[in-house]
Amino acid sequence: MSEPLRIALAGLGTVGGGVVRLIEANADLIARRAGRPIRITAISARNRGKNRGFDATRYAWEDDMVILGERDDVDVVVELVGGADGPALALARTTFEAGKGLVTANKAMIAHHGLELAKRAEAAHCALRFEAAVAGGIPVIKGLKEGAAANHIHRVYGILNGTCNYILSTMEDTGRDFADVLAEAQAKGFAESDPSFDIDGIDAAHKLSILASIAFGTTIDFGAVDVTGIRRVLAADIAQADALGYYIRLIGMADVETDATGQTRLFQRVHPHLVHRDHPLAHVDGATNAVVAEGNFVGRLLFQGAGAGDGPTASAVVADLIDIARGDIGAPFSIPAAELEPAPPADSGHRTGKAYLRFTVADRPGTLAEIAAAMRDAGVSIESLIQKGRVEVAGESRALVSLVTHHGPESGIVEAMRLLDGSPALAEPPLVMHILED
Ligand SMILES: NC(=O)c1ccc[n+]([C@@H]2O[C@H](COP(=O)([O-])OP(=O)(O)OC[C@H]3O[C@@H](n4cnc5c(N)ncnc54)[C@H](OP(=O)(O)O)[C@@H]3O)[C@@H](O)[C@H]2O)c1
Repeated sequence: MSEPLRIALAGLGTVGGGVVRLIEANADLIARRAGRPIRITAISARNRGKNRGFDATRYAWEDDMVILGERDDVDVVVELVGGADGPALALARTTFEAGKGLVTANKAMIAHHGLELAKRAEAAHCALRFEAAVAGGIPVIKGLKEGAAANHIHRVYGILNGTCNYILSTMEDTGRDFADVLAEAQAKGFAESDPSFDIDGIDAAHKLSILASIAFGTTIDFGAVDVTGIRRVLAADIAQADALGYYIRLIGMADVETDATGQTRLFQRVHPHLVHRDHPLAHVDGATNAVVAEGNFVGRLLFQGAGAGDGPTASAVVADLIDIARGDIGAPFSIPAAELEPAPPADSGHRTGKAYLRFTVADRPGTLAEIAAAMRDAGVSIESLIQKGRVEVAGESRALVSLVTHHGPESGIVEAMRLLDGSPALAEPPLVMHILED
């Protein structure tokens, strides 16, 4: 068997610990599949003395993780620390400068600096792999780059954040409110103590921007993702959606279109959506992730599985290492970084679809008529309207009014919201959730 692939691990937490355990447990199988052993030579984390459930003294230790990229006994660095910038980015740059490969699970870093890092990796003829950065254990990047490589992908969308999906599906199962379920998720370790990256949709947007670049061959553009998280979803919204035949899921959605001048434009949105209960994504529950990619020859592909956790994420990291051990370097975003097409954001105004709107209103005559008039004046046609449920806003009990629109331009909904903006009839801004279309 050939020389081992020598790796260094930066970060020995949930994912890093999982990678050590996986490489130690499946060493023989990995060596047979990779054609050579994968051997950990050096490690780094913040706290050297921490008990990590494995014998860390078997590996060389670096206090400064960036040094890992410069070590002579390392071929590939595995970055499992996190953070878009800081030491993770410094380590990535050092690694390519030293002519070594990099595997990372760091979606924030790839979403912000993926193009620069891909250019550096390609210039150095080194691998840059990040399967674990999108949907944890699900081989969706591999699926797009390899299995569906022959297709034009026209749309990619899915459930990209397990914490949000756990919260929404638990609210659905139990009828409990968001804050209550979030607190439980934090206590059980399904949500971070600062959950904002997850529940405000940023984590899903990081992943979506990476997927979009690979699916469409466009330059990564995290800043252009239109993001709304799940904080404002009420138990009452879930009950209304259920009564109408839908579940609520945080969906990341991307597609490309060509405008009148022939320019490719990229649409990227992370919003809570209503998903019809016949749609495969409606039944993705708990912390599971799922991604749908639609190709012009293959049709609809559905990738589903564990989107986080030590085992699944380590599985994706080690799969990348096995590819590198086999000599598969390839372009990080499937086509060379210099050939990725810059795509300005698409204008969502001319998109069409159905939407669910929820208004929190004062109990007084004329409120429903005012909402209906704004819809009419904006050209939005209402399919159904329900006044049901109450909620406390600033200590006062308010009524909830929900409606579902007929299929129509999104610009109409934007205009209706503009007409209602500042209305004393509304206790808070309306919540708009799009309805996922097949
Ligand atoms: N957790 C998941 O399920 C999951 C899934 C997909 C992707 N990811 C990504 O994987 C990466 C790691 O996530 P994680 O959940 O494993 O995080 P974690 O459990 O918090 O572990 C982070 C590790 O990084 C180390 N570290 C932090 N700052 C450091 C520094 N300045 N120098 C050296 N080491 C440092 C920590 O050291 P100590 O142990 O000494 O504190 C710890 O070992 C992140 O990019 C995350 O987004 C995670």
